[in-house]
Amino acid sequence: MDIAFFNEYKIENNSLIPLLQQIQEKFGYLPSEALEKLADYLGISLSRIYGVATFYAQFNFSPLGKYIIKTCHGTACHVNGAVNIAQEIENELGIKENETTPDGLVTLQPVACLGCCSLAPVIMVNEKVFGNLTTAAVRRIVKKIKRDELE
Ligand code: FES
Repeated sequence: MDIAFFNEYKIENNSLIPLLQQIQEKFGYLPSEALEKLADYLGISLSRIYGVATFYAQFNFSPLGKYIIKTCHGTACHVNGAVNIAQEIENELGIKENETTPDGLVTLQPVACLGCCSLAPVIMVNEKVFGNLTTAAVRRIVKKIKRDELE
C-alpha cells in the first residue's frame, strides 16, 4: 500500500473509520503493516487506531476464510435451537465463533439477526441462507464445506 492510497481522502478526525473500511475492502482485513502506515500518515499513534478499530465488530484483524459461516443468535433463532446449531458447527470445525480454521477455509462469525427469522434457526454461508436447520442438517452442510464442495 503506498501513500497515494491515503491521499485520496481528506484527513479529518472523523475520517479514520472510512479509511479503515477502505483498507479492509482492499485486503479483506486490516493488515498490521497497513495500520502502521496509516498511523504514520495521519500522525496519530498506532494504539489509537487499534483503539478505534477494535471498538467496531465490522473490522477483522486477520484474513477471513474462503467460507464465512454466520450463525444467527437473534431471538427467533435462539428459541428455535440456535445454540445447538452453533455448537454443532464449532464441534465439526474445531474452532469457536470469531475464529478461522488453521487451513484458512472457514471463518465462524456470530450475528444478531440475518433478517429471515421465519426460517429460524438460520445460518448464512457466504451469501447463501440455510434455514429450518437441525443439527443433522448443519452437520451435512459443514461436511460439504470442509470438502470445499458447497456450491
Ligand atoms: S433471529 Fe435469526 S434470522 Fe432473525
